[in-house]
Amino acid sequence: MPSLQRYSTFGLFASCNSIQPFSDVASFLHYYQQSSIVYILGGGSNSVFTQDFDGTVLVNEIKGISHFDTESHHYLRVGAGENWHDFVTLCMKEKWYGFENLALIPGSVGACPIQNIGAYGREVNALIDKVECVFLETGEQVLLSNKDCQFGYRDSVFKHALANKVLITHVNFKLPKHYELETSYGELASLSDPTPEKIYNKVIEIRKSKLPDPSELGNAGSFFKNPVVSTTVYQAIAQEYDAVPHFVVRENDERTNAGSKLEQIKIPAAWLIDQAGFKGKTLNKVRCHPTQPLVLTNLGGATGGDVITMAKDIIASVQEKFGIQLEPEVRILGSKGLISL
Ligand code: FAD
Ligand code: EPU
Repeated sequence: MPSLQRYSTFGLFASCNSIQPFSDVASFLHYYQQSSIVYILGGGSNSVFTQDFDGTVLVNEIKGISHFDTESHHYLRVGAGENWHDFVTLCMKEKWYGFENLALIPGSVGACPIQNIGAYGREVNALIDKVECVFLETGEQVLLSNKDCQFGYRDSVFKHALANKVLITHVNFKLPKHYELETSYGELASLSDPTPEKIYNKVIEIRKSKLPDPSELGNAGSFFKNPVVSTTVYQAIAQEYDAVPHFVVRENDERTNAGSKLEQIKIPAAWLIDQAGFKGKTLNKVRCHPTQPLVLTNLGGATGGDVITMAKDIIASVQEKFGIQLEPEVRILGSKGLISL
C-alpha cells in the first residue's frame, strides 16, 4: 500500500491502493477505467487524507506552457500539472504581468480554477480565459469559458455541477497589457511606486512571515473559508465587539431582481477563531497556527482523527460564540473519497 504522506502538504500518514502519475489524457483515461474509486491530485496542498484511501490516486503531470500576444493582451495555455508558483515566477521574468498578487501559492495550475485561488486582493478568475477539460466517463473534451466556470469566492462549477466529473487538462489565461495594479490589501498599500515586481516580492515576504512553510510544517493553508454573513449578523457582532475586521462584498441577487446588488459582509475566520481562543492551541499533534489561526498544522505524527477533532472543536466554538457556521476550505478525504465534517 503506497504512502500518500509526501503527496499531501498536510503530511498525514495515509496510504492508498495505488498512485499513478500521468502526463497525457490517454494514460489518465487508462488508469481511470481500471479503478472503481479514483482521486485526482495536483500538488496535494488542498487535500487532507484523514484515512487510508481505498482507491487509486492519479497525479497530474500534464506539462507545457505556450504563449502568444496581441497588441492588447498576453495569452497563455498552461498544462494542468505545471507548478503554480514556478509558472507565476516565469511570467514575472517574461514580464507577462497580472499574477503578482498570487505568488507563492502552493499547488498546480490545474487546481487554480477549482477553488478560484485568491490572495492579496486578486482572484485568479480575473485572468482565466478558458479551461480545457475531459469528461471522466466518456473522455469527451470540453472547453469552458470564464463564465461557464461560475467563479465565486473559493468557488466554481468544479465544486458543484462538474464535481468529480472532469479532469482539467489545461488552463488558458488572458492578461491585459494595461491594467491597474492591485495594492489595496493590507501591507501592499504601503508600497511606494508599486510595480508588479515589488508586489510579487512583497507578497512573498508577507506570506513567508505569516504562513507556515509546508516543507517544514505540514499544513494545507486556510483550513476554513472566511464566512460571508448578512449585514444584520455582522451588526449584532459589531455591537458586542470593538473593531470587528470586515470586508463588504456585493453579489448579484438573482433570486429577487436580476442586476440588483445584495450587500453582505465577509468576516475573517482568523479573527473568529482567534476570539474563540484557539490561536496557538494544540490538540494532540495538531496546532492552530500562532501567527495565522486559520491554518491548522501537523506537528508531526498527527492522525486524521486529530485533525477532525480540532476542526470540529473550532467549528463548534465559533458557532456557540458567534452563531456562525465555519465551512472547511480544504478537501477532506475519508476511505472512499471526499467527506464533510
Ligand atoms: P490538490 O490538493 O492536489 O487538489 C485540490 C482539489 O482539486 C482536489 O479536490 C482535486 O481532486 C482537484 N484537482 C486538482 N487538480 C485537478 C485537475 N487537474 N482536474 C480536476 N480536479 C483536480 N489557496 C488560495 O486560494 N489562496 C492562498 O493564498 C493559499 N495559500 C496557501 C498557503 C499554503 C501554505 C498552503 C499549503 C495552501 C494554500 N492555498 C491557498 C490552498 C492551495 O494552495 C490551493 O487550493 C491550490 O490551488 C491547490 O492546488 P493543488 O494542486 O495542491 O490541489
Ligand atoms: N486576524 C486575526 N488574528 C490573527 C490573524 C488574523 O484576528 O492572528 C484577522 C485580522 O483582522 C486580519 C484578518 O484576520 O486582518 C485577515 O487575515 P489575513 O490577511 O492573513 O487573511 P485571511 O483572511 O486570514 C485570506 C485567505 C488566504 C490568503 C490571504 C491573503 C481565505 C480562506 N484565506 O486569509 O488564503 O492568502 O487572505 O489574501 O480566504 C488559503 O486559501 O489557503 C489562503 C492561505
